[in-house]
Formats: sequence, C-alpha cells, structure tokens
Amino acid sequence: MRSDIISILFLITHYFTLTDINMHCKIISISNQKGGVGKTTTTSSLGSILAQRGYKVLLLDLDDQNDLTLSLPVKNTEDYNLFDCIFKLGAAKGIHVNPNLVIIPGSKNLQPLRFLDMIRMHPEYQYDNPRFVLRSFLEPISEKCDFILMDCPPNEELIVQNAMAASSHVIIPTMAHSFSINGINAVLKMIQGFRKINSEIEPLGIVMNNYDRRNNIDRGVYELCQEEYQGLLFDTPVRINTKLKENTHLGVEIIHYARELAERKIPQTFSGFEDFNSVVDQILDRLQMKPAYV
Ligand SMILES: Nc1ncnc2c1ncn2[C@@H]1O[C@H](COP(=O)(O)OP(=O)(O)OP(=O)(O)O)[C@@H](O)[C@H]1O
Ligand SMILES: [Mg+2]
Repeated sequence: MRSDIISILFLITHYFTLTDINMHCKIISISNQKGGVGKTTTTSSLGSILAQRGYKVLLLDLDDQNDLTLSLPVKNTEDYNLFDCIFKLGAAKGIHVNPNLVIIPGSKNLQPLRFLDMIRMHPEYQYDNPRFVLRSFLEPISEKCDFILMDCPPNEELIVQNAMAASSHVIIPTMAHSFSINGINAVLKMIQGFRKINSEIEPLGIVMNNYDRRNNIDRGVYELCQEEYQGLLFDTPVRINTKLKENTHLGVEIIHYARELAERKIPQTFSGFEDFNSVVDQILDRLQMKPAYV
C-alpha cells in the first residue's frame, strides 16, 4: 500500500516535470541509424546558420565519437562534456562557439553500456524510465534557448532513445541511395513509437544530403522521396560539396568559412552554405517562427 502511494506520488511529480518542457524552445534530434549520411554536418551547419540569424542555439554532441565537437572551433573539451554535466555537475556547462551558439561536447562515456551503468548507479533516475534522463536534464536549460540541436550517433541505442524522449522535432538527414529509404522509415517508426511517452514529437523534415543532380540515381531517389514523403522532404537537396567537407574537417564554423571564401574571392560557390541556408528558411517556415531579433 505504502509503495503504491509512493509510486503514485512519483508518477504525479514526474508527470508535471515532463509536461513542463518549455514549448518555446524547439528541441530537435538530428537522427538516422544509417552511418555517414550527414547528421553531424547538418547539425553544425544548421546550428551555425540559426545562431547567425540571431537565435540562441545549444548543440548537444550525443555521439561518443565527438565528431560534432571536433567540427567546431572549440578547445578544452575534456573539461566539459555531456556525460559529466548530467552525472557529475547535474547542470549544463557548455562552451561558447560564438555569443549565440553553445556546445556541450560528447564523451566516450556516452557509449550505451557505460551510459546505462551510470543511470543504474544514480538512484534518482531509477524510479522512472532510463529514457528520460536527457529530458529531465534539458528542462531548466530549454528556457534559455530558441533551439537545442542534438547530433545523434548512427544507432537506436539508449542515448538516441533519450534524445527521442526529449525532442519536440526530428530532422532526418539521408543520402540519395535506395537503401536510405529504410533508414528514413526506421526513424519515422521510432518517432511513432515514442509518441506513447512523448506526445509532442514530430518529424520536422528530411534533408537529402550529398546530392548530385547530374546522377540519374540521385535524381530518381529524390523524386521517389518527394512522392513518398510529401511535405517532409525539404525542397532543397544539399549538394555534394567539397567545401562542406573542408569546413567540418578544419573545425571552422560554416558561416565563417563562407565569409572567408567570399573575401578570398574563391570562384567556386559554396553550395553547401546556400543549401543549408535554404533548409533553415524552410525549417523556420514550418515552425512558423518569427525572425529573431539580431
Ligand atoms: N554535402 C556534402 N558534400 C560533401 N561531403 C559531405 C557532405 N555532407 C557530409 N559530407 C562529408 O561526409 C562525411 C560524413 O558526414 P557526417 O559526419 O556529417 O555524417 P554522419 O551521419 O554524422 O556520420 P556518422 O553516422 O558516422 O555519425 C564527412 O566527412 C562529411 O564532411
Ligand atoms: Mg556523426
């Protein structure tokens, strides 16, 4: 009887904390269990462009490979990482990339077994679902941000489940390859499954990345996706573009790389920058967001 009352109390208090997430902040998972489709590139590019447009953006690197963090100009990543913020500090301590853009780096400890072990060791997370750890962590932070973008690793393990439980939206990057349809469907199925515990979650859009319009297969897959995922596929595919590879590998923000190329009057256009700007326009349109005050 006593344990029943305690469970009910936990359920009530947890129900209120779960519904408390700030509705103004868009919490977006960038996810696809397929590897190498452009999740990290999409996260860093969208984050940088949204911040340039005046929105307050927090990036979370959920991948134990730490690629998102490495793609941006940040140092001292050893001192601040998501795992330590959640389990040691109990608070968010991010690194400023610029005044509007903050990142909480990833950590080797985000590997599924280590993450699960840590949840088990923390009694405060045991009363409920281990998939709500990130959601609880983000509650106080979401008040301070317009966007939280989470770069997911290529799997459906516990950290990705945590991202899904915390998200208001999901962006699905994909490649123009017939196998990629399976990846898109897997994410859509996961979103559907998570509606039981997170009624807010919606797919926001599909980014067709690495697109080569001269290639028949790419064009065919794009047209197929237009039919299959009407209203979800963003109108602008992100073209294959070496400059996009360069900026992430050099750890330079996309907006700075675009400026640098323009100043050096490099004749080749930075199509990746143009394409992601267009995706940002469509995101803001779909979310019916007003322009930020810059
Ligand atoms: N449009 C593009 N044109 C050229 N190169 C690209 C493009 N998009 C991504 N890349 C490159 O492709 C590689 C994979 O991209 P990225 O790391 O963003 O994928 P990912 O989905 O995050 O991979 P993982 O599943 O391993 O986390 C990177 O080297 C990146 O620089
Ligand atoms: Mg990645």
